[in-house]
Amino acid sequence: MQCQCAANGSDLSLLEPVLAEYADLKGSLTAVLQHVQELYGYLPYDVVCLLAEKTGLTPARILGAAAFYAQFRFAPAGKYLIMLCGGTACHVNGSARIAAAVQEYLHVENGGTTEDGLFSFSILACLGCCSLSPAMMINEETYGALTPARVLEILKEIRTKEAAK
Ligand code: FES
Repeated sequence: MQCQCAANGSDLSLLEPVLAEYADLKGSLTAVLQHVQELYGYLPYDVVCLLAEKTGLTPARILGAAAFYAQFRFAPAGKYLIMLCGGTACHVNGSARIAAAVQEYLHVENGGTTEDGLFSFSILACLGCCSLSPAMMINEETYGALTPARVLEILKEIRTKEAAK
């Protein structure tokens, strides 16, 4: 099937080793999409179209399969990926108030990215550091015993640091 998708500028050559690794692209679609996300940070539409060409599936079918999994992103992630724990211990200790503070300050929904591309925000299941609840990670860094005031302080520090660059 010849896909008519418009290219959106992704470097499709990055995908060549992945295409070479998987003889059965259709049967390994989830694993292939994981590789795509590792390479590009999300699932770019022109890459999905290339996979559609190679597998004979439609782009809609591939995106539909990806949408089934919370791990896949369909837009570029922000420079700072905020992962707030929504697990039980964190929930009991006030993660909803932390989420509200983040969302109000950054004007971003769960799963969304700020307009300036600086922050993406996701509420995830247990991050594995329940003794620090309520906890969140920003990229590789873990923050615990959060309060709404503390989370705003952290976000403002990042904004100030970025503005100074
Ligand atoms: S419940 Fe939040 S880190 Fe485990």
